[in-house]
Amino acid sequence: MSAESGLANASKENSLPNRSLRPGFPSGFLWGTATSAYQIEGAVNEDERGPSIWDRHAHKIGNILNNGNADVANDHFHLYKDDVQLMKALGAKAYRFSIAWPRVFPAGAGAPNPKGLDFYDRLLDELLASGIEPFATLYHWDLPLALQDRHGGWLSRETSEAFAHYAGHVAKRLSDRVKHFFTINECSRFVNLGHGHGSDAPGLKLSRAELNQVRHNVALGHGLAVRSIRTQGRAGTRVGPAENIVTCVPAIETPANIRAAEIATRELNAGYLTVMLEGKYTDAFLADAGKDAPQFTAEDLDIISSPIDFVGLNVYMPEHYVVAADNAQGFAPLPFPDSFPHMDSAWLKIGPEAMYWGPRHVAKLWDVKSIYITENGTSAADQPDTAGNVYDVDRIMYLRNYLTQLQRATSEGVPVLGYFLWSLMDNFEWTDGFEKRFGLYRVDFNTQRRTPKLSASFYREIIAQNAVV
Ligand code: BGC
Repeated sequence: MSAESGLANASKENSLPNRSLRPGFPSGFLWGTATSAYQIEGAVNEDERGPSIWDRHAHKIGNILNNGNADVANDHFHLYKDDVQLMKALGAKAYRFSIAWPRVFPAGAGAPNPKGLDFYDRLLDELLASGIEPFATLYHWDLPLALQDRHGGWLSRETSEAFAHYAGHVAKRLSDRVKHFFTINECSRFVNLGHGHGSDAPGLKLSRAELNQVRHNVALGHGLAVRSIRTQGRAGTRVGPAENIVTCVPAIETPANIRAAEIATRELNAGYLTVMLEGKYTDAFLADAGKDAPQFTAEDLDIISSPIDFVGLNVYMPEHYVVAADNAQGFAPLPFPDSFPHMDSAWLKIGPEAMYWGPRHVAKLWDVKSIYITENGTSAADQPDTAGNVYDVDRIMYLRNYLTQLQRATSEGVPVLGYFLWSLMDNFEWTDGFEKRFGLYRVDFNTQRRTPKLSASFYREIIAQNAVV
């Protein structure tokens, strides 16, 4: 055989896969985008909305980068029709948004504001007219300020009860159009950053015992809300949490390390997902808390573990890479080297495997049959060119890698039913103000102009193909 004919044969046999071999998602996979009320709505004084802990926190000089606040933010309260068109242009089939508790109960409890749900009525009608299915989060951190000032917010179980009352009211009013409710967004983050570290609202630095009590009351609020949604929502209303779990990735995928990563994921989420799904605090959690363990009753644990219909997971990065270890816990988290890569937000480590292992651990550990990825996305230092185009190839790189791992999970049968990209558009990024951009659409906060970035085209293609592109 001549060298030439050899080459010809090789190119025939090794011809590259064509487009039809792209890694696809299950048919009917639900593609959406996500936002939250305080980050986009603005209109903080309209329709008798009450103040939230974030209003006060953001207005305190020094709390937010460049002293931003979300009084106007994306002015979504007025521009929601245009924003629904942005979703439609992506071909998105679902939208995860949050309802502002202080709009509905301006003082947190007591009588509902008669105008409190009007905005959401309008938004829901607009979404449904555009063929977009609404998924509503009930708490994305904007606690009515009155509850904080009256009895210490989540430090008191009166807040857990007020939350359930509000959740039931919303379910009663909106479950004709909203079929899926998320109770609380990321318990872990607002408990730690708002009540331990003090950087987020309400800006507290509580003792370990108080922090554990807050954590317990938040989990209790979740369970009470599940129950009141069941009693007040229409038959068939589905409910679950949206948690940013501590995801542990096996450093090397051996059976022993995989088992260690599962054990670590169960233990390190003991205060949230584990207690919600098992109805008990793990022995290690209680031993570690010692005298600082939360006060709770057996009935509390029953409430917290009220049956849910799905688990929502916000996936940004692995919390730990772990290996099996011959110690009491059976695992060892490895330190992150200084050179570990991150995105524009320094905390946002690039670890796409979290998108495989997070849902897989949840399905395996607790036999969860329905999972939604309720958030995934990244900040990027988007720079418009002279024509105003944003070529955010770094965001595309991040998303493609995470979605490849998600596809790996669904192709192995991990029951992920949908994915909500964070975020539809740039918005108020909490203590980072408007300085970190997570959107598929760029927002000019002076003019409120929205412009699609290259990642919007990328996501539109993903949705159209139902595959990683
Ligand atoms: C939160 C979002 C936030 C995003 C990026 C998530 O933890 O739910 O509100 O904007 O992360 O920081």
